[in-house]
Amino acid sequence: MAESRLRSRNWFGRNDLDGFVHRSWIKAEGFSERMFDGRPVIGIANSWSELTNCNAHLRQVAEAVKRGVLSAGGFPLEFPTISLGEVLMKPTTMLFRNLMAMDVEECIRAYPLDGVVLLSGCDKTTPAMLMGAASADVPAIMVTGGPMLRGMWGQEEIGSGTDVWKYWAERRAGRMSEEAWCEMESCLSRSAGHCMVMGTASTMASMAEALGMTLPGNAAIPAPDARRLALAEMSGRRIMEMVREDLKPSRILTAPAFDNAIRADMAIGGSTNAIIHLVAIAGRAGVHLPLTRFDDLSRSTPFLVNVRPSGKYLMEDFFYAGGLPAVLKELLPLLHLDALTVTGRSLSENVAGATNHNSDVIRPLAIPISSEGGTVILTGNLCPDGAVLKQSAASPHLLVHRGRAVAFEDHRDLHARIDDPHLPVDETSILVLKHVGPKGAPGMPEWGAAPIPHKLLKSGVKDMVRISDARMSGTSYGTVVLHVSPEAAIGGPLALVRDGDEIELNVPSRRLTLRVSDQELDRRRAGWKPRAPEFTRGYGKLFLDHVLQAHEGVDFDFLRGGTPVRLEDTAGPSHS
Ligand code: FES
Repeated sequence: MAESRLRSRNWFGRNDLDGFVHRSWIKAEGFSERMFDGRPVIGIANSWSELTNCNAHLRQVAEAVKRGVLSAGGFPLEFPTISLGEVLMKPTTMLFRNLMAMDVEECIRAYPLDGVVLLSGCDKTTPAMLMGAASADVPAIMVTGGPMLRGMWGQEEIGSGTDVWKYWAERRAGRMSEEAWCEMESCLSRSAGHCMVMGTASTMASMAEALGMTLPGNAAIPAPDARRLALAEMSGRRIMEMVREDLKPSRILTAPAFDNAIRADMAIGGSTNAIIHLVAIAGRAGVHLPLTRFDDLSRSTPFLVNVRPSGKYLMEDFFYAGGLPAVLKELLPLLHLDALTVTGRSLSENVAGATNHNSDVIRPLAIPISSEGGTVILTGNLCPDGAVLKQSAASPHLLVHRGRAVAFEDHRDLHARIDDPHLPVDETSILVLKHVGPKGAPGMPEWGAAPIPHKLLKSGVKDMVRISDARMSGTSYGTVVLHVSPEAAIGGPLALVRDGDEIELNVPSRRLTLRVSDQELDRRRAGWKPRAPEFTRGYGKLFLDHVLQAHEGVDFDFLRGGTPVRLEDTAGPSHS
C-alpha cells in the first residue's frame, strides 16, 4: 500500500498543527522521529487483565507481536481493551460481550491504526474482538492465548470445568471426601492459558482459525509452549503484509468462511456458545446466518475430535495430534476450499501440509466418532425460533424422551427448591428453567445445566433432560436444551410451561414439543405479564433496550451490518 493510503498518515503525516500535536505528544513515550517516517502503525489490542486469569499472560504475547512488527518495519502500539474474565465477572461475561466489541471497534476506528493484532483468550474475549474488528474493517489478525497445560490430580488427568462438574456431583452425592475435593482445587489450573477442554475458549479459538482470522495452528498451541510466542511474532510480521495487501476482515469473513467454521465446530464437538457468537460475528460482517444453516451442516459433518467434554482427551493432546489444521485437512471434502485467510492464501492451501499424528484424538473422516456434528438445532411449539442441544455431550438414552415438566420461574427459584426432598421429581421428569435468557437473567448466563436434584443424585441419576433459555458452559455436558427462543422474559412459550405439562424431546427429528393444546396456551398467554426491567439506567438499560434474541446472536440491534464508516475520513483536529 502506498504510504499516502495509510490511515495513520492522517494523524502523523500532516505538516500542520494537528500533525505536530499527534507526533509531539506520542514522542512523550520516547519514540524517535524514525517511527513517523510513513511506516504502518499496528495496534495491538490487548485484553490482558489479572481479573481474567486466562488472559493474564498476554503482555508476554504482545511483546512477541511487537518483535514481529518491528522486525518487519512497522510501528507497534499496544492498547488495552475491556477484559471479560469468565469465572469472576458477575452476573455473566455475556452481559458485557457487546460492550467489549464496541470498545474494540471504536478504538480501532478512533486511533491512527493501519492494522491491528487482536489478543484474546477467555471465552467472550475472542468473539467480542472479532465482532469489533469486523465492524471496524481495518486489516486484523488474531492471536489467542492458548489453552492451559492439562490438569494433573495425582496420576489422573483432569479437565477445566468438565471434571469439576463431574466431581462436584460426586461430592454432593457424598462419594468424594472434603480433603480430595480441596486437593483437586490446586491441581486443575496449573499454568497460564484458558480452559483446556473443548469449552468455549478452545472452540472460539478454533472458530477464529477456521474463519481464517489467525495463522494456521493458532488455536491449540498450549499457552506456555514457546511455539505460541513464535506464532505471535509471525502474526506481527504478517499484519504488516496484510496492511500492504489491504487484506481486511470483510474479505475474509464471507459466507463460505462461516460455512467452514460451522463444519469445523461440528467436527470438534464445539461449545454451544459458538452458535451464538458465530451468528453475531456474521451479523457484523453482513452475512445472513440462520440457525437452520447450523443444522443443515451438522447433519452432514462427522464428529471427529475426541476431546472433553464430548470425548476423552484434553487440548494438549489435541495440539500434539495436529490441532485444527489436521481436522480441517480431514474435512477438506466438505469445505469451501477457496475461502481467503489472513495468510493471503486459501484455507485449503494453509492445511495442505498438515499431519494427523494421532487418529484416536483426531478421527479420520471415514472413521468418525459419530456421523453427525456435535450440536443440533431444535424447533417446535416450545421454541418457535429455535433451541440448541449438544448431542455429543448428551446421554443417548435421553435423545428421544417424553416427561413431565418440573418448572422453575427463575434461577433463584431453582436453587431454593432443587434439593427439596419433597420436590415432585423423578428421573423421567424434565427440568424447565425460565427467565435466564438475554433479557431475563439478564445477560443469558451459563445456567442451563441445572443441577440434578439431590435425591436423584443419591440414587445414581447422572443426567436428566433440562430445558431453558440460558446458555451452558462449553465445558459442561448432559442432555441440556439451551437458547430457547423467544425467551420467557418476552413471553415466549417457555414462560407458559407449568408443572406437570408433558414435553417431548426428539433429537433425531429435531423437535421439542410442549404437549399442551393451543387453546390452553392461548389462555395462559392472555394471563401472562412481563416482569419489571432489571435495569433502569446505564449500560444495563442499553442492553435491555437493544439486545437481540439467542437465534440472532444476542448482539445489539444497532450494531449489525451496515456500511462501515469511511475510516480515512475520520482523522481531523482533536484538540481545542
Ligand atoms: Fe477463561 Fe474458561 S475461564 S476460558
